[in-house]
Formats: sequence, structure tokens, C-alpha cells
Amino acid sequence: MANGVVVLIAVLLLERSAAVGDQADPSHVDGAPPSKIAVVGAGIGGSSTAHFLRQHFGPEVQVDVFEKGEVGGRLATVTVNHHDYESGGSIIHSLNLHMQEFVKVLGLKYRRSVAGKTAVFNGDEMILEETDWYLLDLFRLWWRYGISFIRLQMWVEEIMEKFMRIYKYQAHGYAFSSVEELLDSLGGSGFLNMTRKPLSDSLLEVGVSQRFIDEVIAPIMRVNYGQNVSIPAFVGAVSLAGAQNNLWSVEGGNKLVCSGLIKTANANLHQAQVTSIAPVTSGDTLQYRLSFTSETDSGSDLYDIVVLATPLQESVQSGITFEDFSPPFDQLPGYYHSTVATIVHGYLNTTFFGFPDPRLFPFASVLTTDEPRLFFNSVASICPVNISAGFRRKQPQEAGIYKVFSPHTLDKVQLKSLFRSYYSVQLTEWSAYPRYGSSSSLPSIELQPNLYYLNGIEWAGSAMEMSSVAAKNIALLAYHRWNRQDDKVDQKDLMHKIKTEL
Ligand SMILES: Cc1cc2nc3c(=O)[nH]c(=O)nc-3n(C[C@H](O)[C@H](O)[C@H](O)COP(=O)(O)OP(=O)(O)OC[C@H]3O[C@@H](n4cnc5c(N)ncnc54)[C@H](O)[C@@H]3O)c2cc1C
Ligand SMILES: *[C@@H]1O[C@H](CO)[C@@H](O)[C@H](O)[C@H]1NC(C)=O
Ligand SMILES: *[C@@H]1O[C@H](CO)[C@@H](O)[C@H](O)[C@H]1NC(C)=O
Ligand SMILES: *[C@@H]1O[C@H](CO)[C@@H](O)[C@H](O)[C@H]1NC(C)=O
Ligand SMILES: *[C@@H]1O[C@H](CO)[C@@H](O)[C@H](O)[C@H]1NC(C)=O
Repeated sequence: MANGVVVLIAVLLLERSAAVGDQADPSHVDGAPPSKIAVVGAGIGGSSTAHFLRQHFGPEVQVDVFEKGEVGGRLATVTVNHHDYESGGSIIHSLNLHMQEFVKVLGLKYRRSVAGKTAVFNGDEMILEETDWYLLDLFRLWWRYGISFIRLQMWVEEIMEKFMRIYKYQAHGYAFSSVEELLDSLGGSGFLNMTRKPLSDSLLEVGVSQRFIDEVIAPIMRVNYGQNVSIPAFVGAVSLAGAQNNLWSVEGGNKLVCSGLIKTANANLHQAQVTSIAPVTSGDTLQYRLSFTSETDSGSDLYDIVVLATPLQESVQSGITFEDFSPPFDQLPGYYHSTVATIVHGYLNTTFFGFPDPRLFPFASVLTTDEPRLFFNSVASICPVNISAGFRRKQPQEAGIYKVFSPHTLDKVQLKSLFRSYYSVQLTEWSAYPRYGSSSSLPSIELQPNLYYLNGIEWAGSAMEMSSVAAKNIALLAYHRWNRQDDKVDQKDLMHKIKTEL
């Protein structure tokens, strides 16, 4: 009998030490701060993570940022005729508080917006045309769609209001260990359900008409995500908020935020591709070995904390292999949707849209309905990232700069049908955002102790501000985990808690 107990205790002890062996305790009994943190990826996600890590861990810790391509990632510009134009993420909403804060901290400027009208094309004709008269537009919307657009507005506002709670929670230092926990604390099970339910179903439920969905919502989903109204309601709401007014971008290019944040964070930028990551335990400390290669050399280094700020789906080809993970960790399920941004310097073929005389074509941007014959999602006259005082938008009868979004590369015939003639064509093929519906779960934030993954949030909604929210969350989470402050992680009823803290 007594023997049996001893054996049992021995087994328990063995199991404990085995657990420590393959997944060491991340605690820091001595209270020592981490000495080195790595961030992989210098898009808005990685660069803002570096910024927030510096804020929370203080000036001593070494922060290394690895970037295999260009700083900015999916925020990028192309040069046409001596001016730069956004080819990736371009529009920021006035309620995107982290992005606003970055611009302020970095002393960057808001880019002035240049007015321009929008129309919706269905393959044969314009079915919706914005005019100079706000009241007339309102009247037309009312006439055509009844009160659908008011119902839509209320639905989006209610969601935004709940989403805005995140800034309060983060300002009070609260973090979440998963995207599910984060969404749940903002909008309860309703938000979680919205990441699984088609946008069209949610809108029909609140009384938005099918016609409004087909003619207004579908074109917005096509221009923002290259996908249809079957995408989840939550990401749909995020992009509808972005379709309202009060939109801005950064003078000189949105990517200036990324390079600026890395600089002010006093992080070391390594122009290198991380090729592998492996846990390394010695005694009871767990670290990660990152191996990397650049054009000039290759090497590896040990880090106490690692943040992966790039998508880990196979279709994105980060090139990172996970070695010695138990259980094994590999690429994540799902695909990224490919969107081609084609920037054309030329003359728009307004006849294509039913306007044989270009001087009578009043639109700056054309969205499209979900019409299989159409080979593009949108075409818009665009403005450079720097706008001088005397700038005016080019008229359709003049040569101008246009951006076309399409699911595939445009061939010559397609280009010739959209443009009467052109001087230059530049294309960027993006692994742009998740192909919603290609994975059923939201990826984890904590892959292992002290190893974090930022881009899972994109499966709830992909936007610059979403990456920034995830960055702040990871910096807080990493800090609390390191210092064992569990009362700051996954707390329930935060609205109430915060009120009583004040
Ligand atoms: C065409 C287009 C239009 C968009 N429009 C908008 C918009 O109007 N508004 C909006 O808010 N959002 C928009 N988005 C979405 C927005 O751009 C993204 O959500 C956001 O930029 C993602 O930032 P990120 O830092 O999370 O990822 P990324 O920008 O993809 O950054 C990841 C970085 O990691 C690097 N990397 C990958 N693997 C490695 C490795 N092994 N080693 C080192 N570095 C590595 C990559 O080179 C990349 O720079 C748009 C996106 C696209 C493509
Ligand atoms: C979300 O879905 C679950 C399961 O279907 C359901 O029980 C819950 O009531 C839903 N929440 C809301 C707010 O609709
Ligand atoms: C949207 O696209 C998906 C995948 O391409 C398709 O399965 C679905 O039926 C489409 N939904 C609508 C409403 O067209
Ligand atoms: C564009 O704007 C940025 C930011 O204000 C500035 O640094 C840059 O010099 C400007 N470039 C030109 C060509 O005006
Ligand atoms: C412009 O569009 C019209 C209508 O689709 C088409 O017939 C014509 O070939 C296009 N190209 C030019 C150069 O006009």
C-alpha cells in the first residue's frame, strides 16, 4: 500500500519534470526583465508591436525587428511619373484611434482628401450615381431602397460603438489571450457569432433589403476584400465603417508610419528573412532560436520573447519553419485571397461605362456588382500620397492615374477595353487578406509560452487598425505573462471593472 503511494508520487514527479523539459515554465522568479525580444515582420502589425513593446518593457530591453522585404509590408507605394501612389492599404477611418495616435507621435501629417464622386456599374450600365446634391442622393437612396440604408447605418454604428471599448480596455492595461476572448469582451457572443455568420444573413435580419445588399453592400465588399456578401458579418461591418465618410490617409504614404514607429521604438531593423524558429530550454528557462538569412549573411540568435507579425498560411509563403515543437506546429489552415492592384497612367475608356463623351463622365471611382462577366472589382482615379496646394484631380478626357483592383492579372485585351490608351501599367499582386470561409477557426495568439502570433486577428477583420489593436494586445499580454500578472488577462465584465477603477 505504502509502496503504491511512493510509486504514484514518483510518477507525478517524473511527469512534472517531463513537462518542464519540453515546455519550460516561462516564469521569472527573480523578476528579471527579458533581455531580448524579436519581432518578425515590419508591416503595420510588426512595427506597432515594436512601438508598444518599448512602451511597456521600458528602455533596457533589446528589440530586433526582422523584415525580408520592404518595411511597410502591405502598406506600399509605387512611383508613376515622379509621384507616389498607395498600392496596398490606403484608407484609414477617423475612429481608428491607434493609427491617429501614431501619426501624432511621429509628427506626420494627414493627407488632404480630394472630392470625387462614386458610381456602381453592373456590367451594362451605372445603377447608382452619386451627384453633387447630398439631399438628392439621400432622396434617391430612400426611393430605391426604402429605409435599408438607415438600418444599415444603425447596425454599423452599434457595432463600432462596442468595438471602440477596446481602446479603454487597452488604456487600462487589459489584454486577451485569444481573438475569441477579445471579441467576447467587446460584444459578447454576438460578436463571436458575427465572425461565422454571412454578412448578408445579418443584414437581412436587421431589415436591410436584398436589393440594397446586391447593389450597395456587394460592391463595397468587392472593392475592400475582393469577396462577396457571404464573408462574415464582423469583417463586413469593419469594412462598412470604412465606407462612411471621415476617411484619411498619411501624407507621404501610409508606410511612413511603419518606418517611423521602428525608429522611435529604438528597435534594430534587420533586413533579413527568418527561416526557422526553435524552442531552446536550459535549466528552467525557455528561449527561442531564430535563424535568418539576408543577401549578405546568415546567422541565428536567442530571444526571450518572439512575436510573429506575418500571416503563417501556406499561400503567403513566410518561409518560416517551426523546428522541435511539441506538439509539432506547422502552417495554419486557410488561404489568403489574391488581389491585383494595377496602376495605369492613361485615358479611361468611359464608353465602357456607357459614357461615349469622356467630358460628361462625372465619376472618380466606379465600383461593381457581383457580375461574373466583370473582370475587375473597381477602378478609381487616384491622387498621389503628397498633394500640393494647387492639386486638382484630372478630368476623364485627360490622361490620369487610375487604380484597378481585380482577382487576376489584367491581360492586354482587358486593359484595352478599360483604357482608350495608356502610357504605363504597374501591377502589384497581393496576398491581400484572408479568403474568408477558407478556415473555420480563429488562429491562436499564444502559440507557446512567450511566442505570440499577431495576424490571427485578420480572420476577424483585416485592416491596419485591426493589426494595431492586435499589436497593443500582444505587447500587453507579453508583459503580463512575463510578470505573471494574470489579473490583467482575460478578465470578465471589463466595462464594470474599469468604472470602479476610476
Ligand atoms: C490591396 C489592399 C488594399 C487594402 N486596403 C486597406 C484599406 O484601405 N484600409 C485598411 O485599413 N486596410 C487595408 N488593407 C489591409 C491592410 O493593408 C493590412 O491589413 C495590413 O497592412 C496588414 O499589416 P501586417 O503588418 O499585419 O501584415 P503585413 O503588412 O503583411 O506585414 C508582414 C511583413 O512580414 C514580412 N515577412 C514575412 N515573412 C517574413 C520572414 N520569414 N522574415 C522576415 N520578414 C517576413 C513581410 O515581408 C511583410 O512586410 C488592404 C490590403 C491590400 C492588400
Ligand atoms: C450566438 O450563438 C450561440 C450558439 O448558436 C447562441 O447560443 C447565442 O445566443 C448567440 N448569441 C447572440 C448574441 O445572438
Ligand atoms: C460567394 O463566394 C463563395 C466562394 O466563391 C460562394 O461559395 C458563395 O456562394 C458566394 N455567395 C454569394 C451570395 O454569391
Ligand atoms: C511628401 O510628404 C512627406 C511627409 O510629409 C515628406 O517627408 C516628403 O518630403 C514629401 N515629398 C514630396 C516630394 O513633397
Ligand atoms: C471602349 O469600350 C467600348 C465599349 O465596351 C468598346 O467597344 C471599345 O472597344 C473600348 N475601347 C476603346 C479603345 O474605345
